[in-house]
Amino acid sequence: MAQRAAQIAGHLKKQGLLQGQVAIITGAAQGIGAEAARLFAEEGARVVISDIDAKKSQETADGINAAGGAALAVPGDLLSEDYIKELVRRAAEFGNGKIHIIVNNAGFTWDGVIHKITDKQWDTMLNLHAKAPFQLLRAAAPYFRVADGEPRNIVNISSTSGVHGNAGQANYAVAKAGVVGLTKTVAKEWGPKYGVRANTIAFGHILTRLTQAKEKGAFVQGPDGQKIALGIPGMTEAAAGADVYNDVPLRRAGTATEAASAILALASPLSSYITGQTIMVTGGRNM
Ligand SMILES: NC(=O)c1ccc[n+]([C@@H]2O[C@H](COP(=O)([O-])OP(=O)(O)OC[C@H]3O[C@@H](n4cnc5c(N)ncnc54)[C@H](O)[C@@H]3O)[C@@H](O)[C@H]2O)c1
Repeated sequence: MAQRAAQIAGHLKKQGLLQGQVAIITGAAQGIGAEAARLFAEEGARVVISDIDAKKSQETADGINAAGGAALAVPGDLLSEDYIKELVRRAAEFGNGKIHIIVNNAGFTWDGVIHKITDKQWDTMLNLHAKAPFQLLRAAAPYFRVADGEPRNIVNISSTSGVHGNAGQANYAVAKAGVVGLTKTVAKEWGPKYGVRANTIAFGHILTRLTQAKEKGAFVQGPDGQKIALGIPGMTEAAAGADVYNDVPLRRAGTATEAASAILALASPLSSYITGQTIMVTGGRNM
């Protein structure tokens, strides 16, 4: 009985939902993107790891390749269009002339209240969360605007901040709201003739470096090489255990694996009639 159950579990896990497909996942060196890369590879996709962190990108790709998957690290800064063009060129080479999936996931937050936010903070968020996804789609257009009968899919990552707004995040909220419009537009432009699907996922609180305690000292490199601190001030385990999830029906944060599973679900053929949608992956918060 146990053996039969294990057989079924193994069978269910290896459906090969993305067999033969080539995926670019941005921000895939760690966090949600790295989990998506791992899950995509498990389902048979060849995965291109795009991230500004070269060391972690390589480690993620190495881990996938060591486990029998196929991954290529193409590190670089998505704030540079030259890098975006190089990313598409290398991905198409890796995919023998094809790219099937783009997950626009890279990002970070650079918070400030409206009366204090600088133009640099504003532009960086808009450039990274809205302009870079647009530039990546434009560069990859020749691989998506093709009618070869194979699936093509875009998953853009937004946030509850983009859907509902969030005090202290005007720059991030505008950029993440912009992604919703970009998704719907590309769904309408590339859907009719080429069957391209495009969807947005707006995450709530997912446990990654972005949402850990700011006091842990994580940072990301800004556009001028400056260090931008990441995390939420005071988000200690004690605080998390107290009341921060009171407005979440599931009363907890999501894991990176749960977040990435939603990306896989949308990119897979199981979602073949879903396009232009914004899926809230929030544990029910704000419904
Ligand atoms: N964690 C959450 O609660 C949460 C909630 C809502 C939305 N999101 C969004 O989910 C996405 C993934 O975030 P995460 O939580 O996994 O964070 P993360 O920090 O673990 O991963 C983000 C990755 O993006 C990369 N990146 C940042 N700037 C880059 C640049 N200029 N060029 C290339 N790569 C760059 C980072 O190096 C990092 O590896 C982001 O778009 C984020 O805004 C996260």
